[in-house]
Amino acid sequence: MAKLLITGGAGFIGSHTCLVLLEAGHSLVVLDNFDNSSPESLRRVQELAGPAAADALKVIKGDVRSSSDLERALAGGCDAVVHFAGLKAVGESVAKPLLYWDVNVSGSRELLAAMRACGCRTIVFSSSATLYGLPEVVPICETAPIKPINPYGQTKAAVEQMLADIATSEAGWRIACLRYFNPVGAHPSGRLGEDPNGIPNNLFPFVSQVAVGRRSRLSVFGGDWPTPDGSGVRDYIHVMDLAEGHRAAVDVLLAEDPQLLTLNLGSGQGHSVLEVVAAFEAASGQAVPYEVVARRPGDAASSVADPSLAAQRLRWRTQRGLSEMCRDGWAWQSANPQGYAS
Ligand code: WQD
Repeated sequence: MAKLLITGGAGFIGSHTCLVLLEAGHSLVVLDNFDNSSPESLRRVQELAGPAAADALKVIKGDVRSSSDLERALAGGCDAVVHFAGLKAVGESVAKPLLYWDVNVSGSRELLAAMRACGCRTIVFSSSATLYGLPEVVPICETAPIKPINPYGQTKAAVEQMLADIATSEAGWRIACLRYFNPVGAHPSGRLGEDPNGIPNNLFPFVSQVAVGRRSRLSVFGGDWPTPDGSGVRDYIHVMDLAEGHRAAVDVLLAEDPQLLTLNLGSGQGHSVLEVVAAFEAASGQAVPYEVVARRPGDAASSVADPSLAAQRLRWRTQRGLSEMCRDGWAWQSANPQGYAS
């Protein structure tokens, strides 16, 4: 199997992907600065992966913006990189654009330069549906216009452009840009999950924290959207399905000729905010009180993926529905009310 560098591997999607990659037999080096994650997540990944993977996970505390840290992480070479390290809060990106351009774009540039220096030209990049901005057509396919409306989305579009440029300039690059829709849920063991710092920006962790009693009430951003029940519709994808999509992307890149793949990773199924609330209450047995308030600036009524290209190129589709996302998300939150600090 392959030797992989996983940047940001201690994070929500990174940790779940590390577990799936270990279970597939790969050996991993994780580079993470732990600014937005906890080393505890990787201790639990090792626990879940079991004795067969005892020597297959090496963790390096460091930053993708540091060429010396990258050199340490790539020492001994690697067959491919899965690049999660980055900042992802839309609101924060508006308040701190230079930080987002530094971490997300300069960090990616440093990584690519370090990869070239050690002869590794295979990368899976953690991109985002946020770069579509306010979609004109739903479901959204990969040829939809790229028109991000916040610095976070701009940085994702910029890194995708950087990757396209390097693929054009040099032979041998094998690249997959994976555009995530709305990753939610947790590993079914309840040992791994989403652990945002501070007040959650995203719906699912906020609902989860209301259910466990950390928050008193959910604010539903808008009840007058042109959707079946008036609340916003999104394409939620179970984080385990997302992790398996990354494993499939690594396998395809390593098996096939150099190429640049750009793929939506979503379910193709939309669910409204109120549907998520009801599903989470059913899964947790806990009430999730809410109040409908004004729309959040920059929100779209609906954002749902056309997942057919990923199905065709990766032979991968989501397997888990909203009830599993809520069941597993509650397993995590109820066992870890304060996240990894519990
Ligand atoms: C979902 C729906 C809100 C919070 C984000 C970002 C980015 C991306 C994940 C990676 C919307 C509504 C939300 C709340 C609410 N990650 N909502 N009350 O906005 O689709 O995009 O997706 O790239 O983080 O782009 O996700 O979870 O913030 O919102 O009513 O307290 O829930 O209006 O309809 P979003 P979200």
